[in-house]
Amino acid sequence: MPNYGDPEYWEKRYEEQKGKTYDWLEDYESLGSIIKQLISPDANILILGCGNAELSEEMYNDGFTHINNIDISTAVIQQMKDRNADKPTMTWTVMNVMDIKFPNNHFDLAIDKSTIDALLCGDDAFINVAKMTKEVQRVLKIGGVYMAISYGIPDTRLEHFNWKHLHWEVSYQTINPETDNPHYVYLCRKKQGADEISEGNWEEVELSLTENKTE
Ligand SMILES: C[S@@+](CC[C@H](N)C(=O)[O-])C[C@H]1O[C@@H](n2cnc3c(N)ncnc32)[C@H](O)[C@@H]1O
Repeated sequence: MPNYGDPEYWEKRYEEQKGKTYDWLEDYESLGSIIKQLISPDANILILGCGNAELSEEMYNDGFTHINNIDISTAVIQQMKDRNADKPTMTWTVMNVMDIKFPNNHFDLAIDKSTIDALLCGDDAFINVAKMTKEVQRVLKIGGVYMAISYGIPDTRLEHFNWKHLHWEVSYQTINPETDNPHYVYLCRKKQGADEISEGNWEEVELSLTENKTE
């Protein structure tokens, strides 16, 4: 299996895939109704590990025009920037989801479509996902939602949304539950006091996940 946790894997893959698009797991057709229940068209949106998915451009075409896409791959960000040059309020930036260069309390919705799955395939997986959730919670407004679409069943994903630095209300829905290939939409809504709790508990979480190497 390819090393989906390795940024170099993605860079090479996107260089080879120039001109193509691909949506992992789900697309706007299947996710649109959930997204529309969460936010209004003027919402400020962050896409975490956007890749070359059409999700964000389809959201834009449907009226969600304030979208900031980030990915670790320079190649894919340049390709998607060129492809969407006609969409002035949509941005494309090379950025690590573990070190998000946006201010606190900035976004109404952060969408992670299978980026958590990629991180969980890599080295230091648990601490890397915890770094991402810490950053995502920080940049969300109170009441804002982290939406993670994953193939991972709740037994393998919920613990990542419940470490002690996180203070959000967690729920999930199953897409195509009756099939052999269901996907899960985890919704984490940031609660009042989350920033203080994160600051107070992060050191302990970081230490325990680094010491235990729980991957
Ligand atoms: C499984 S793909 C999903 C792509 C897209 N979200 C989709 O649904 O089609 C995972 C994406 O995460 C990106 N990625 C991996 N590690 C990252 C990191 N640390 N920071 C930002 N993006 C990362 C990869 O470059 C890749 O585009």
